[in-house]
Amino acid sequence: MSILDDRTTYQRLDTAGIGNLIAGLPQQCRAAWDAGMAAPLPERAGDVMRVVVAGMGGSAIGGALARGLADLESPVALTVCRDYRLPAWVDVHTLVIASSFSGNTEETLSCVEDALERHAPLLAITTGGKLAQIAQAHHIPALTYAFAGQPRCALGYGFVGLLALLQRAGIIGEQASDLEAAVRAMEAWAAEISPDVPEERNAAKQMARALHGRIPVVYGAGFLTDVAVRWKGQFNENSKTFAFAEALPEANHNAVEGYGLPAGSRERMAVVFLKSALLHPRVLDRIAVTADILERQGIPAGWVDARGDSALAHILTLVQFGDWVSYYLAMLNGQDPNPIPQIDYLKAQLAQR
Ligand code: PA5
Repeated sequence: MSILDDRTTYQRLDTAGIGNLIAGLPQQCRAAWDAGMAAPLPERAGDVMRVVVAGMGGSAIGGALARGLADLESPVALTVCRDYRLPAWVDVHTLVIASSFSGNTEETLSCVEDALERHAPLLAITTGGKLAQIAQAHHIPALTYAFAGQPRCALGYGFVGLLALLQRAGIIGEQASDLEAAVRAMEAWAAEISPDVPEERNAAKQMARALHGRIPVVYGAGFLTDVAVRWKGQFNENSKTFAFAEALPEANHNAVEGYGLPAGSRERMAVVFLKSALLHPRVLDRIAVTADILERQGIPAGWVDARGDSALAHILTLVQFGDWVSYYLAMLNGQDPNPIPQIDYLKAQLAQR
């Protein structure tokens, strides 16, 4: 029997129930939407000309996914700041959304100070920590939520909760019906790729198997660019493996020349393309030609087709599929997907400096 079809694999390795949290993502998206619709907004939220989401890692990726959607439809520019200082152009006309699961991430807190100095309207998304305290002290509206698990597992709040806030601020259009259809598409797909579905019929297990022992390189494009970044992060943190994210069409102007060396790298890499019929048709042509180049060089390349009818559904269904692939790859790697000892060590070391 495949170890991915053996319940004891999950009982032995998944000590914190990461699989349950991945399985709960569709329902979490619904809860996060309701929380975002009920949360307070800054008075000036509707008048802003730009939006910056400040956050790191698992708390930044929701902003990055929202940027992909906003770029498709919004006249208001949305950017993500993964750093200590906000861009110089942030001013009173810029809505700064500080997103930190723990509320204690120093880069994000530094951006909050920066935003306060520049009198930019602020909004917080957090479970608590210093960010919640600062929000209370400075009367900053906040979407606060409770979540037992790792920040990366709370993507529903960081992404869908954020979308609700952006919709109410008039930065993006009505999302409710797309969201409900997207969540239904996630639920339908989850029934095909969850741990109780045997590997012979489970596309996520099969993809993890194809990636096992190789370095995953995930190609996104357009509004899926940061879905590839999500996959990379989940491979790093859940599966404890090197992984890379590339974006088309840009990768066609450099990365395609880099598949040969150093010797042995072809045998070590495996590429996944994230596909959506809503991508630019020339990007779809580029995926086909790039896969052909990879195949001729002996590098395995596969793809995943998004499900659902909207860009939001395509983002969420591909995120969900990638979360499961990273989880199964953790099992094949003999790793507990929950702990992140190097990130914890880094934070502890930096706290002493
Ligand atoms: O996945 C993780 O645990 C990290 O990427 C964190 O999200 C990151 O370190 C930022 O912490 P927080 O989400 O608490 O702001």
